[in-house]
Amino acid sequence: MQQDTRAFILGLPKAELHLHLEGTLEPELMFELAARNDLTLPYDSVEHARAAYEFSDLQSFLDLYYAGCSVLVTEQDFYDLTWEYLTRAASENIRHVEPCFDPQTHTERDVPFGTVIAGILRALEDGQQRYGITYRLIMSFLRDMSPESAARTLERARRYGHRITGVGLDSAELGHPPDDFAEVFAAARAAGYRVVAHAGEEGPPAYITGALDILGAERIDHGVRCLEDQMLTARLAMDRVPLTVCPLSNVRLKVVPDMASHPLRAMMDAGLLVTINSDDPAYFGGYLTENYVAAADALGLSHSELVTLAAASFQASFLDEGTRQDRIAEVEAYGSARGVR
Ligand code: HPA
Ligand code: ZN
Repeated sequence: MQQDTRAFILGLPKAELHLHLEGTLEPELMFELAARNDLTLPYDSVEHARAAYEFSDLQSFLDLYYAGCSVLVTEQDFYDLTWEYLTRAASENIRHVEPCFDPQTHTERDVPFGTVIAGILRALEDGQQRYGITYRLIMSFLRDMSPESAARTLERARRYGHRITGVGLDSAELGHPPDDFAEVFAAARAAGYRVVAHAGEEGPPAYITGALDILGAERIDHGVRCLEDQMLTARLAMDRVPLTVCPLSNVRLKVVPDMASHPLRAMMDAGLLVTINSDDPAYFGGYLTENYVAAADALGLSHSELVTLAAASFQASFLDEGTRQDRIAEVEAYGSARGVR
């Protein structure tokens, strides 16, 4: 990797559209919050926790991810979690974020929805004030829990109105197709929420089709398995459906064997609107810049292609049209100033 490529990526104005706030919980903060809340962790030390982050598939990761969430109890805990991420984002010139969170993971443990949302929103507001990072918040339903539980979560969100922009669908994908969630997503759309869904990470291309047709998803999280279905790929390209790809996540969860085999370039070549994101950076070994660097390095992405990817991250966002175009112009000006044509 040329040192100038890393610096180029670091300074590039970027948006992050696929980021689980709970997946930004670094072991250091996990230990701090465990002590604050008088809880014991299944790890002896920060190093021991990091060493345990060896995953064989999505489920093996989710087991540790949900266990880690147990230290998040108070509003301040959710604030600190979100604030650490935003501080990191600011240092990487991330200008806009659309993070998601998993309310059911917390309400199941009797942490009130209001506690979770208050801490997250206070940090996002502070991040906008202090760092100028704009945001849209997404609430994800857990697909390995019941549709009734998702519906109760939607009901709990009602009083926060448009402070929550979108709904999503995450957690264990295989064996949990989108079909069961048709009703709750219809209710969410009727209430004015934007819609995203994880699909085609471990699950087959049919789950992507289902996310579009059954849930009304406007944007697909991951979607890397779409290339297995030519008709679907053509449809995604034609309709400019954004796909929020997470390169380091895909390697760490063995969705792909290694970075050199990652389909990102093939997806770009197929005319898809792809963006680079970090998913759960505390667990997968890198934040947004590291995801761009790893992909650029393994797939030989040019500075011009990196500009295209950063512009796509704003294009695919839920920002209003005017702000989106302003940000895209900033990305292009950044490239032009550095000789990218
Ligand atoms: N996939 C599905 N569910 C998740 C993930 C993921 O990568 N991270 C947190 N929840
Ligand atoms: Zn994800």
